[in-house]
Amino acid sequence: MSNIQTTKPKHFLTLMDFSKDELGRLIQRAIELKAMWKQGEQYEPMKNKTLAMIFEKSSTRTRVSFEVGMTQLGGHAMFLSPDDTQLGRGEPIEDAARVISRMVDIVMIRTYGHEIVEKFAEYSKVPVINALTDSYHPCQLLADVMTYVEHRGSIKGKTVTYIGDGNNMCHSWMNAARQFDFHLNIACPEGYDPDQVLQNELADQISIFRDAKQAAAGSDLIVTDVWASMGQEEEQKIREAAFVSYQVNADVMAQANKDALFMHCLPAHREEEVTAEVLEGEQSVVWDEAENRLHAQKALLEALLIGLPIN
Ligand code: CP
Ligand code: NVA
Repeated sequence: MSNIQTTKPKHFLTLMDFSKDELGRLIQRAIELKAMWKQGEQYEPMKNKTLAMIFEKSSTRTRVSFEVGMTQLGGHAMFLSPDDTQLGRGEPIEDAARVISRMVDIVMIRTYGHEIVEKFAEYSKVPVINALTDSYHPCQLLADVMTYVEHRGSIKGKTVTYIGDGNNMCHSWMNAARQFDFHLNIACPEGYDPDQVLQNELADQISIFRDAKQAAAGSDLIVTDVWASMGQEEEQKIREAAFVSYQVNADVMAQANKDALFMHCLPAHREEEVTAEVLEGEQSVVWDEAENRLHAQKALLEALLIGLPIN
């Protein structure tokens, strides 16, 4: 029996790599896998399978959830950092992709430019997962939508408000609006808007605001993210000034619907993008959201390596 792959593998670089139907099934499967795990049921279809995890940026949730997820599925996860691989010494990404993907079964990458994961995927023999680039964070959105569904049911037709930088999280929320059929209000200061091409593509499904409270009015879910992302540390002070009126606080939450939830991908900066009161408040589901990274990514690993269960 040969394990040599001749067809192109399926990757997960943005939410657009899966169809609406596939994403819906993946969320349901994540909920199912979570229930199995809570019941202590062992499900180990990934014996002898290895996930390579390439991290060019820091991580707590993504690393722990992928590594634990692979363990629970019966496989193995290998952490690779630029500090102690040849990637940090300038080995071309296309060479690394061809070498690593001849030995492992699936690869997860967290890096800077989105073109780096695209290039890795182009040269990889095995599925590649985007675990955050400067442009997108699709794994986070799987957990976020799963968390909404668990707490409130379908997100279809709802209004989500993203308050903050037009960054990787904002772009993935925009893709989520498209794939899960909801409206996305975006409140951000001028100069920090999301990508213009994405805005044009999504014109019917997004509204841009320059006022956080106006954006939050009538929302079912309020989300935010840090003002300075990884790689933007030197802009922290300038950004604190630019985003000062874009904090998610009790006044902003009061504009949203009574049963609105609050989410944050974490790590959070209390009293910057969100007050401690909101983060720790009754509408916040951030700890469920963080835990769901594990369950959603187990469903993703299964979808890419085994396939999605048929409904
Ligand atoms: N939300 C998220 O991706 O967290 P980490 O940076 O800790 O992985
Ligand atoms: N926008 C943040 C998300 C961290 C999970 C960053 O890129 O640093």
